[in-house]
Amino acid sequence: MDIATNPEMADAAPTPHEPPVIRREDYTPFAWALPETRLAFDLGVEKTRVTSSLSVEPNPAAEPSPVLRLNGDGITAAQVTVDGAEISDWTMDGPDLLVPLSAGAHVVGIVTEIDPSANSQLMGLYASGGMLCTQCEAEGFRRITFFPDRPDVLSTYTVTMTGPKSLFPVLLSNGNQTGEGQNEDGTHWAEWHDPWPKPSYLFALVAGDLVANTDSFTTMSGREVDLAIYVRDGDLPRTDHAMRSLIKSMEWDEQVFGREYDLDVFNIVAVSDFNMGAMENKGLNVFNTKYVLADADTATDGDFDGVEGVIAHEYFHNWSGNRITCQDWFQLSLKEGFTVLRDQMFSQDMQGEAVKRIEDVRILRGVQFPEDSGPLAHPIRPDSFREISNFYTATIYNKGAEVIRMMRTMCGPEAFRKGTDLYFDRHDGEAATCEDFITAMEDGAGLDLTQFRLWYSQAGTPKVTVTMNYTDGEASLTVHQSVPATPGQAIKKPMPIPLKIALFDPATGTHRGEELLLCNQAEQRFTFDGFAQKPVLSVNRGFSAPVTIAREIEDHELVFLAANDDDAFARYEAMQDLVVRHLTAASSGGLSDEARDAARDAIGTAFGAIITDSALDDSMRGELMMLPSITYLAEQQEVADPSAIHQQREDLKAWLGVRFATELAALHDRVSQLEFSLEKASRGARKVKTQALVYLASGDPESGSKVAARQYDAADNMTDRQGALMVLAGLGTAARTDKLIDFHRRYADNELVVDKWFALQASSLHPKAIEHVKALAEHKDFTLRNPNRVRSLYMAFAANPHAFHAEDGEGYRLIADLIIALDPINPQTAARFVSPLGRWRRIEPKRAALMREQLERIAAVKTLSRDTFEQVSRSLG
Ligand code: ARG
Ligand code: ZN
Repeated sequence: MDIATNPEMADAAPTPHEPPVIRREDYTPFAWALPETRLAFDLGVEKTRVTSSLSVEPNPAAEPSPVLRLNGDGITAAQVTVDGAEISDWTMDGPDLLVPLSAGAHVVGIVTEIDPSANSQLMGLYASGGMLCTQCEAEGFRRITFFPDRPDVLSTYTVTMTGPKSLFPVLLSNGNQTGEGQNEDGTHWAEWHDPWPKPSYLFALVAGDLVANTDSFTTMSGREVDLAIYVRDGDLPRTDHAMRSLIKSMEWDEQVFGREYDLDVFNIVAVSDFNMGAMENKGLNVFNTKYVLADADTATDGDFDGVEGVIAHEYFHNWSGNRITCQDWFQLSLKEGFTVLRDQMFSQDMQGEAVKRIEDVRILRGVQFPEDSGPLAHPIRPDSFREISNFYTATIYNKGAEVIRMMRTMCGPEAFRKGTDLYFDRHDGEAATCEDFITAMEDGAGLDLTQFRLWYSQAGTPKVTVTMNYTDGEASLTVHQSVPATPGQAIKKPMPIPLKIALFDPATGTHRGEELLLCNQAEQRFTFDGFAQKPVLSVNRGFSAPVTIAREIEDHELVFLAANDDDAFARYEAMQDLVVRHLTAASSGGLSDEARDAARDAIGTAFGAIITDSALDDSMRGELMMLPSITYLAEQQEVADPSAIHQQREDLKAWLGVRFATELAALHDRVSQLEFSLEKASRGARKVKTQALVYLASGDPESGSKVAARQYDAADNMTDRQGALMVLAGLGTAARTDKLIDFHRRYADNELVVDKWFALQASSLHPKAIEHVKALAEHKDFTLRNPNRVRSLYMAFAANPHAFHAEDGEGYRLIADLIIALDPINPQTAARFVSPLGRWRRIEPKRAALMREQLERIAAVKTLSRDTFEQVSRSLG
């Protein structure tokens, strides 16, 4: 919506300390339509002159207005013209420019001057390593020129760029190039035209000295598309995987969703300084280098997957985001949730369904569940915000994807495709809403989503309890659900929860088919008969619903499922549950020796079966071997003591390492024989190699350190090398120092690998990790100006519970110091560091008080950005 045309907003008289609240219910369409936009850029790193020419006419669907309100942010107008004549009766309303206009069509011209080199927020037009690039989503375009910077104003863009050819031999914008030429003064120019109407957040421009990896793709209707990935000279050899990923994405979207590309060129540019992962600007995606560059020597298998997934994600936005965009930013999940689902489905097809699903659930439960149970909880379609940048969250993205995945589970893949076809068809060229998507799904897929709409409006992770009663051959399941209170939403209604279940016969290890239970009431009963003995319940198979499950089940039944369940996720879950139960009990104190022995025995039985099961492929084995994270474990308790959890988790790891020393060493040996390749078997081998090493080093740090040093030295790829160094970084042995020095020396000129070097130390199990972080902050390679570098040190640290939750509160102080220092430089990235401190309500009281203290210290800063202000006040509130 338009902030300033909302009368309520005017009354609110926001102080600079309290930015206004923007509400979904206040949406009104913009008074003007802008069929055509022409932009001319006179480019310079320190001074860029922007001349815009906007064709405007009254929007027949809106209330007429005598003024044209154009958003700005930190810019001033050097000149304003209407229909070719300079005017002087324009005014400013805060950051916005108001141009009085009579009814009818006009051409409005504006000149602004900006300094890209001073743009440390990395929103709008900024300089990165000598090149110029843009990031406009969500509200960056208004930092370039005055414009109705809202996603429901669509315009066709023609862009001319002029600049010194020596600095900027490559000039790119959206769409197709329509002209170029040389000037006498050593500058050159290029003109680009994008025929597809788009909102301003999809505008992009790149000017720099870049080289390209080029290829081509023929679409299903025969359109030839030129593909190019632009990088700095020297990075070219690391772009092949990205190009392969792009081509696979284009093929897959045609096959699976029937979506075809719609321009003659598709360009990707990799940029070192970037707030997020990447951006789907029409025909000109701009990427964080982290999600473009990969080769075996510098990128792990996980990094390769990250590149493939993000390339796919941004490419898929061409339909879910660009051809159909969002009416307003409250609808963000319309494009993000759906596009995440699409990229997850793609990666499941590329990498294997089971393991990818487990990884996605791990991210959801590790990041989104804590968000949903904390002070920043919000529905996937929020009702209000102060700063939209704060809502690019795991809830909007990952829970948003789960919600649409549930629709697919309920109707099946064929009906789902009918629903998405109808959605694309019906809303092509529009700025749509989540409600439009839901309605298209009802009409196209034949679903009744009346009650299901609650998933869009209610925040919080539903808690589902399943109990089984067995009598006379009949198993009856009682399913109870409740949705916890979240900020602003005290009372919740029951929601439709599709639960996939199977009932196993413990004698045969089989079941008679999966069932889909639709639970849509607070309590429901489902009965099944004909069992010779009490069946074992496998529930939420494939993680069919984003909920937490409490089930009545015996340890030996979990051991049974961990060994026998034919659903990969359920098998993983059985193993996780077994460990979660034990560690939860152990870390809350008062576990008897007998109880500990019994639990370890059960875990050991399951773990032993997993490491020796020859029917299991290694990449799945690697998943099953992973212990639940401290964050996930803490999430299981109302109030957690992170250091107690850490201690118990380490004890269990060491116990498993000792108990299975022989088997783990044999496993490590076996997989070390395999040659490097990107094939599944070889990747699986690398995954279990480091997993085995983790336990070996826990069981016996001295000999584990030797194995790790050997793995490091023998490594011909980053996965093995980083894995070994990760283990070493947590140990106090001499090899730790040696290999850390070697790693930095070896990769000193590769910034993405130097990021790893920072992250490995900040996330290490070393008891002095916090001292290491302080020293690294003073390292010559550290800078607050590069978001990847900031994240590599401080995000890794904030996600390292034993260090972040140091008893004296030093970890909290360090993060608060960072937020205060980073906020004036890059508020968007600074605000991301608030949520670890915001978890205080779920942490034991002594630490909670120290966390609050730091939040209050941040809140006391008078000049706080909108971004950080919003997150800190929600976290304290
Ligand atoms: N739309 C982008 C993506 O998900 C994210 C860009 C968000 N940028 C931002 N500055 N908040 O692919
Ligand atoms: Zn996206």
